[in-house]
This record gives sequence, C-alpha cells and structure tokens, in this order.
Amino acid sequence: MTFFSLINKFIGDPIAYVFLKSFRCLSVLKKYIHSIITICIAYIKGVHINGFPICWGIPYISRFPYSKIEIGKRFKINSSFESNNIGVFTRSRITTNEKGAIIRIGDNVGVSSVTISAFNKIIIGDDTLIGGNVLITDSDWHPLDPNHRFDNLKTKTAPVEIGNNVFIGTRSIILKGVRIGDNSVIGAGSVVSKDIPTNVIAAGNPCVIIKHL
Ligand SMILES: CC(C)(COP(=O)(O)OP(=O)(O)OC[C@H]1O[C@@H](n2cnc3c(N)ncnc32)[C@H](O)[C@@H]1OP(=O)(O)O)[C@@H](O)C(=O)NCCC(=O)NCCS
Repeated sequence: MTFFSLINKFIGDPIAYVFLKSFRCLSVLKKYIHSIITICIAYIKGVHINGFPICWGIPYISRFPYSKIEIGKRFKINSSFESNNIGVFTRSRITTNEKGAIIRIGDNVGVSSVTISAFNKIIIGDDTLIGGNVLITDSDWHPLDPNHRFDNLKTKTAPVEIGNNVFIGTRSIILKGVRIGDNSVIGAGSVVSKDIPTNVIAAGNPCVIIKHL
C-alpha cells in the first residue's frame, strides 16, 4: 500500500488530493535539480545538449572518446521509477561505444527509460516520442560467426534513422539499419528489423504496416 493510498483510506480523497498536489510541487523542484545535474554531467562528458532539458531522474550518459552525442532543444527524459506510470525498468541510457559513433537527437523529443546505444550512427528527428523501455541499437553487439562471438571488430553495425514526429510504443526494439519515416507510429512491443515508411502505423514482431495514417 502506498503512502497516498493510506492517506486516502484514513482521511479521504480531498486531503489525499492536497497531499498529492504538495508532493507534485516538491517533485517539480526535484526535476530541476536532476536537470541541472544532467547538464553538468553532459558538459563534463563532452555531450552537447541545446537549451535546458527536463529530466525526471538522472540518465546514464556515456560518450566514447572521438564520438559525438548531440541533443536538441526541449529534450524531456524520464529515468526514475516514479517518473512515468507506464513503468520504468531502468534509467534512460544514451551511450556511444566506438570512435566516430554519432547520436543526434532533434528538438522537442521525449523519451522514457530508453536505451540508445550507438557503435555507428543513430539519428532521431524533431518532435519524436519514445515510449517506456524502448531499445534503439545500431549493432548486433556480437559477431554472428560462431568462431568470433567476442571479436567486436567483426560485429555488424548499420545506422538507424528515426524521422520527425514518430511515436514509438513502449517496450519496442529498433534494430540496426532501420529507418522509420516521419509521422509513423510503432506499436507497443514491436521488433523493428526493416524500414518503416512515413505516415503509417506498424506493429508486431517482425514489425509490419497495419494501417496508413
Ligand atoms: C499500434 C497502436 C497505436 C494501434 O492502435 P489502433 O490504430 O487503435 O489499432 P487497432 O487496435 O485497431 O489494431 C489494428 C490491428 O493491429 C494489431 N495490433 C495493434 N497493436 C499491436 C501491437 N502493438 N503489436 C502487434 N499487433 C498490434 C491488432 O491486433 C489489430 O489486428 P487485426 O487487424 O488482425 O485485428 C496501438 O495498438 C499501440 O500499440 N499503441 C502504443 C501505446 C504505447 O506504447 N504508448 C506508449 C506510452 S509511453
């Protein structure tokens, strides 16, 4: 039983509502503290964030030397357990893992407990929304050849490009080499292994078009 449901049980809805609103004020303060800490971490790690991001929780950001992470204006990122009722399993994680890797995130993008991990290139357009616990990767992470499973140099990678105003449903996985066109929607729990054009709803494993917008 949570703190609020206890108040609710013994004092009733009006008082519980007042408590909830006051706690929301405190969490707004917490949000600004997290944002400032994130800006400092990004600065120290050579990550370029435009403007003032809104951070619920502190994301894990790691930039490999000689790689680039660039984040646009009005970035919103959820990384704490209580930050999104869709269920946050992990802190958001934005990492480059190789020399020359690039992550570029456009303006006005919102993400929740996302993992974006680049060996090659991951580009995300403006106004895109990425639901809780989505994984975006441009690599297989291990070679497919059974004799070289631990040889990172032989691992296949291919750039990922997600367009403008895309909406990716919770717990989806976006695999290497995929392009998702502007305005498209990816259904919850999809595994996207092939390109998805603009203005469609696509879902499933493998992710296929189910509707046109
Ligand atoms: C993809 C989605 C947007 C489609 O919604 P919709 O347009 O109302 O689609 P419908 O419910 O009419 O479904 C159309 C068909 O697609 C299938 N479908 C819908 N969502 C699917 C999914 N996530 N995976 C696989 N198939 C799916 C339905 O079963 C249905 O199949 P049928 O035509 O054989 O009966 C919605 O199902 C969804 O996944 N929303 C994501 C919500 C989310 O993750 N939000 C993030 C919050 S952080």
